Amino acid sequence: MFDLDQLLRPNIKKLIPYSSARDEFNGEARIFLDANENSLGSPLTKWYNRYPDPHQFKLKQALSEIKGIPPEHIFLGNGSDECIDILTRSFCRPGLDNIIINPPTYGMYEVSAAINEVEVRKARLLDNFQLDLIHLENLVDEHTKIIWICSPNNPTGNAFDREDIEMLLNNFSGIVVVDEAYINFSRHRSFIQELTEYPNLVVMHTLSKAWGLAGLRLGMAYASSSIVEILNKVKPPYNINQATQDLALKALGEVDQVNEMIRVIVRMREELKMKLVALPHVLKVYVSDANFLLVRVDSPDAIYGYLLDRQIVVRDRSRVELCEGCLRITVGTERENDELINALAKFSA
Ligand SMILES: Cc1ncc(COP(=O)(O)O)c(C=O)c1O
Repeated sequence: MFDLDQLLRPNIKKLIPYSSARDEFNGEARIFLDANENSLGSPLTKWYNRYPDPHQFKLKQALSEIKGIPPEHIFLGNGSDECIDILTRSFCRPGLDNIIINPPTYGMYEVSAAINEVEVRKARLLDNFQLDLIHLENLVDEHTKIIWICSPNNPTGNAFDREDIEMLLNNFSGIVVVDEAYINFSRHRSFIQELTEYPNLVVMHTLSKAWGLAGLRLGMAYASSSIVEILNKVKPPYNINQATQDLALKALGEVDQVNEMIRVIVRMREELKMKLVALPHVLKVYVSDANFLLVRVDSPDAIYGYLLDRQIVVRDRSRVELCEGCLRITVGTERENDELINALAKFSA
C-alpha cells in the first residue's frame, strides 16, 4: 500500500520551510521595503530588481490550461535536473534508502543519488531495450523509495511498454517517476492523464527538448497535490528566476509553433534514419521515439574522431552497457543532417 507519510524522510515531514518576504505578504502594496532588494532599479529593467514569484503562479496557470492539470498538481524546477534532485532529497535517507534505475538510462538519477549518499540499484534493460520487470521486482526492498523510468529512454530512444509501467505503478508502494522529457516526439501517450489513478506517480516534463528552451532551465513534475506540497517545501524559495518565468510564459503562448517544430523534427528523424541505414559503416539504427537516434557503427571511435575533425559532435555511447558500438545522434537542421550524412558517406576506416 502506498503511504506517503511513511515514505517521506522524517526530517522533511517535520521541516518548517523557509518563509520568504513574498510568502509573508500577499496583497496590494505600493512600496516594497520587505526583501532588501535594490529599490532604485537594475542595469536591465526595473522588474529584475525584485525577487520572482516563489510559487510561479502565472506560469503554473498557463501550464495548467495547456495540460488540463490543476496548478496544485504542478511543481516547477530549475530544469528537470532540479526535480530529480529534490525528489531524491525529499524521500531518500542518506546511507539507508535506495532507488532503482534501468540502465542504460539518463545519468542524473544516479548522480543525484550518489551526491545524497543514496544506494543505486540497477535492473539493466533487456536486449530489446524494454524493462526487465523480474529483475526490477527482485531489487525492491523496504528501503526502495523511488523507481526511475525514463520513457522514451535516453540513450536508447525507445518508449517502454505501457503495461510494464502500469504494472509497477500498481504493485510498487514507493514513488514511480516517469521521465517523459522526449514524449512530444513519441507515438506513445503520456502518463500525465493517469495522475488521478496512481497516487505514487510523478511525471516529469521539460521545456528543454520539444519546446526548444534548454537555455531557460524549466522542468515540470506533475504529481498529487500532497507530493507537490512536499517538493515545494524542499525547493530553494526562488528556484525559477524572473527571466525564465517571463520567457517561459511567453513561449507557452506559441503552442502551434512548437507543434510544427515537433512535426518537422519527427519527419527529419525518419529521413535521417533512412539515410543512415543506407551507409556502409552503419550496422543498425534503433527505433526512436525521441529527437535523437541511437546508431550502431562498425568503428565507433574512428567515426567519432573523424566527425569531430569536421567539427561535428555526436555523443559517444559506445562504452555504455547494451549500447556497445553506438553513437547517439541528435536530429539537427536539414543542413546539419545533410552535412552529417555527406561526411559519413566519405568515411573509410
Ligand atoms: C531523459 C532526460 N531527462 C531529463 C533531462 C534534463 O532535462 P532538463 O534540461 O530539463 O534539466 C534530460 C536531458 O538530456 C534527459 O535526457
